[in-house]
Amino acid sequence: MALRPNNNNKRALVTGGAGLIGSHVSDLLLREGWKVRILDNLEPNTHRNGRPAWIPEVAEFVEADIRDRAAVSAALENIDVVFHQAAYGGYMPEIAKYVHVNSFGTAQMLEVIREERLPIQKIVVASSQAVYSEGAANCLRDGLVFPAVRSLAQLSAGDFEVHCPNCDALTTQTPTPEHAPIGGETVYAITKVDQERLVLTWGKQTGIPTVALRYSCTYGPRQSIFNPYTGVIAIFCTRLLNNLPPVLYEDGKQTRDFSFVEDIARANLLAATTDKLDGLPVNVGSGKAATISEIAQLISNALGIPIEPIAQGEFRPGEMRHLTSDTTLISAAGYKPEVDLATGVERYLDWIRAQSDVREYFAEAENMLRAKGIVHKVTP
Ligand SMILES: NC(=O)c1ccc[n+]([C@@H]2O[C@H](COP(=O)([O-])OP(=O)(O)OC[C@H]3O[C@@H](n4cnc5c(N)ncnc54)[C@H](O)[C@@H]3O)[C@@H](O)[C@H]2O)c1
Ligand SMILES: [Zn+2]
Repeated sequence: MALRPNNNNKRALVTGGAGLIGSHVSDLLLREGWKVRILDNLEPNTHRNGRPAWIPEVAEFVEADIRDRAAVSAALENIDVVFHQAAYGGYMPEIAKYVHVNSFGTAQMLEVIREERLPIQKIVVASSQAVYSEGAANCLRDGLVFPAVRSLAQLSAGDFEVHCPNCDALTTQTPTPEHAPIGGETVYAITKVDQERLVLTWGKQTGIPTVALRYSCTYGPRQSIFNPYTGVIAIFCTRLLNNLPPVLYEDGKQTRDFSFVEDIARANLLAATTDKLDGLPVNVGSGKAATISEIAQLISNALGIPIEPIAQGEFRPGEMRHLTSDTTLISAAGYKPEVDLATGVERYLDWIRAQSDVREYFAEAENMLRAKGIVHKVTP
């Protein structure tokens, strides 16, 4: 494939470049004068209408699976930097597919680069805050602690709070630094741990700079409205637009750190162009906590659809209670999120209103997740 450098500009392979984050990374790189090739299999759960219109004409588009060795090898030709975004995401019931797409797909790509001695200069891999078991916390007695995931027994009893691992006292949340223990409490999270460790370890072995960006919850225009398993902001919007109440798991007081997708794209460009983050797992987030109830309220207000959210005592084992990213490391490298939550939600709503087919897949999906034992209910 002919992807020739233009002056000193670099050539990027963006895997998963048809998706939410990958497409914004591609747009940003093109604006910055990079040459961009996208490899994406147009996963049907995400892209129900096939190839999305936002894939830029000027980018080279390869419709292929990240697990297809020959396709990956061809797509890596004449590439300087890989932005590895392709992944199977969310709370789907499949186990083998997560491991195959995320872990195996990444492993094989690394193997191809090394075996073929490709002159790749850097790999930026999409990791996730999901690698942490639970957000860091403060205990009045013990100070900073790293609690484990809450047990099924605790959640089933309706106790959603995070207790100190040393003295069992109730804790308060605090931003989670990169040195917090990582593990992976869902199959998806395990594969995100795999991806970042594979890439960072391989980077140390080969001497090729690598960065693993642990994104916080990312939202924005182009977030699939077809995939009911990912993205709480997208799910709440589609429910409200269908005159259904947002469904809160637990009691809705759990908190997350939300990032607008264009900020995450900027973090990718930064990671590719600075050496300050090389070899490291790096949190990317807003550093601010928002409760899921607040998110529901914000969207309902912005849409002007006053339907109160409902909490039915349901929970998903393995989910963390609180997670706010400690962004000291990436901030020191020059990262500053530019789009706040209210503005970002407005921009997402503008986009979603322009979509012709905001259908509601949530109820169907929820029933399936319940049937497969992914969503549980508090025992009365
Ligand atoms: N959105 C978030 O909140 C979030 C948070 C943390 C990490 N991440 C990570 O960021 C990356 C991008 O996520 P996103 O939110 O843009 O998701 P997305 O689903 O919008 O995009 C992922 C893209 O990867 C493609 N893809 C899936 N399986 C593939 C395969 N087998 N071969 C080739 N392409 C494949 C899909 O078609 C899709 O276009 C993923 O690695 C995800 O794990 C996302
Ligand atoms: Zn304690």
